[in-house]
Amino acid sequence: MCGIVGYVGGGSVYNVLINGLKRLEYRGYDSAGMALVSPGGDLHVYKAKGKVSNLEDFCADKNLEAVAGIAHTRWATHGEPSDSNAHPHYSEDGELALVHNGTIENYQLLKDALAQHGCKFHTETDTEVLVQLIEYIRTTNECELVDAVREALNQVVGAYAMAVVEKGNPDTIIAARKSSPLVVGIGDDETFLGSDGTPFIEYTNKVVYVDDDQIAVIKRGEPLKLINLKGSEEKVNVKKLELSITQLEKGGYPHFMLKEIFEQPNTLTDSIRGRIVEGGRRIILNGVMDHKDKFLNANRIIIVACGTSWHASLLGKQLLQDMCGIPVEVEYASEFRYSNPVITPRDIVIAVSQSGETADTLAAIQIAKSKGAFVYGVSNVVGASIPRETHSGTYIHVGPEIGVASTKAFTGQVLVFTMMALAIAQIKGSMEQKDIEAVAGCLLRIPDLVKETLRLNDDIQRLSLIYTYARNFLYLGRGYSYPVALEGALKLKEISYIHAEGYPAAEMKHGPIALIDSEMPTVIIAPKDHLYEKIVSNVQQVKSRGGSIIAIVTKGDTTIRELANHVLEVPDVPECLTPLITSIPLQLLSYYIAINKGKNVDMPRNLAKSVTVE
Ligand code: AGP
Ligand code: GLU
Repeated sequence: MCGIVGYVGGGSVYNVLINGLKRLEYRGYDSAGMALVSPGGDLHVYKAKGKVSNLEDFCADKNLEAVAGIAHTRWATHGEPSDSNAHPHYSEDGELALVHNGTIENYQLLKDALAQHGCKFHTETDTEVLVQLIEYIRTTNECELVDAVREALNQVVGAYAMAVVEKGNPDTIIAARKSSPLVVGIGDDETFLGSDGTPFIEYTNKVVYVDDDQIAVIKRGEPLKLINLKGSEEKVNVKKLELSITQLEKGGYPHFMLKEIFEQPNTLTDSIRGRIVEGGRRIILNGVMDHKDKFLNANRIIIVACGTSWHASLLGKQLLQDMCGIPVEVEYASEFRYSNPVITPRDIVIAVSQSGETADTLAAIQIAKSKGAFVYGVSNVVGASIPRETHSGTYIHVGPEIGVASTKAFTGQVLVFTMMALAIAQIKGSMEQKDIEAVAGCLLRIPDLVKETLRLNDDIQRLSLIYTYARNFLYLGRGYSYPVALEGALKLKEISYIHAEGYPAAEMKHGPIALIDSEMPTVIIAPKDHLYEKIVSNVQQVKSRGGSIIAIVTKGDTTIRELANHVLEVPDVPECLTPLITSIPLQLLSYYIAINKGKNVDMPRNLAKSVTVE
């Protein structure tokens, strides 16, 4: 988690850092801080608990003159969110200041060893151990900062992106990465650093993605240097940053989440573009086409993901099984990585991740690769670790998702799975061409149908007022609607802090039915599909126990309308496409309930956008 920003150059260091932190705040918001090196080499560290705006207030009367600086917004892993645990951390002699994203797994061992040498610690963080270790090596070996960093990183076990500045050395930042993202932006006589490219998008689009086990030596007036942990220099590949500033703004909406919900007709159109061609007759996904044989000969597909991406993966399973007849398993990446998985070279592992940086998903990829599987990535962030670590893949292309609660990335992932299933079915011949064309043709209409569904906005806003103070929610669905129920429940709990459970509707009678009473709203996703009659019985079961029912139904439904307390009607689409439509009202419902409760929907408590720790 967390966001790192750095800058060396002639511009306003403070402005670059503070604005950069605001862009990265979605990654963590427990505290924020910065270290500034003045032209004379003085080092100042300023930090504040809470959001970046607190740091801004704190800095109002401080000396901000600087030619280099690093900054951090934290998502705490070691030690509570507090002023003292906030980054940057000083070394004991006050010569170094360091920011870090990730976790140092052997920090206790290192801390004990350093304590024996007289080192004192002032925070509860693992990060402070790293800066003390660098200082210890630098003073004991009387070496340059970069060599001390290299030596220290050779002793560290864990995941990190880090950056360090030094008193008396106003032109230099040393940064490094292992398993956490780090990008260098190359300007004219100025260099930027970021956990992603958003902090410096208005200054440069020339970027260098730092690789695992690489150290970046950023010095004003000199070209960027990359060295590995053995000390040899490595090639610097400058790439173009594919991001625009308007994509990062709220565009008139009060929150990123609402903007991102309403963007979906456009993001789905962008994702389809160039992939469904000739009116639906052909599906072109290069990632699949370039590895046709792998998909034709696959024994099994295993999908690994976390959170919302895991829910999209459950839909991926259904789509791939229905259309391609390939057995599919879906695993939580965090469980998969420690489950001693049996994988053969004829298995395909698909890793799904919006951010492309989720630590558990990355670890699952490494295991799958080590066992010889072909690994395919489905990600959103271009150039992130997952697309770089996989053999092939597909970007969902929905643009930056800033709201911590995933919305447009979910529908983008489901759409990509649908196109993948169709593309594989086409090369495998597992579906008749006319059926492929029928689904693909409807897929082309989905952006418009999502737009139509978004017209429920006002009804949902009114409805949300009735349920704002419910303490628990149950979400039920069957078949394609079951993962939608899981996702609806996750959305509600993460932004409104109301406990919500998603359940297969028929499974309810094996336990959760005991919870149902007039206080407990049940959201039932019941579009007209082959399980419709079955779910009507489940609706009746809830109704007869006095439960309050909100039902998502297909336009024109009369049966459920008679049973439910509230119905939200959505357009009729083929069964396999219903999640792209039925998930929309659930996103809006959770948004409005959270807003009614006065919650921060874009930055819900305890969460962060990108989970780069285990
Ligand atoms: C989504 O609303 C959540 N904030 C979270 O579950 C998220 O989907 C999960 O952390 C996975 O992230 P990724 O897609 O970036 O890998
Ligand atoms: N482990 C460090 C801490 O708890 C860094 C966490 C982060 O990535 O923000 O301070």
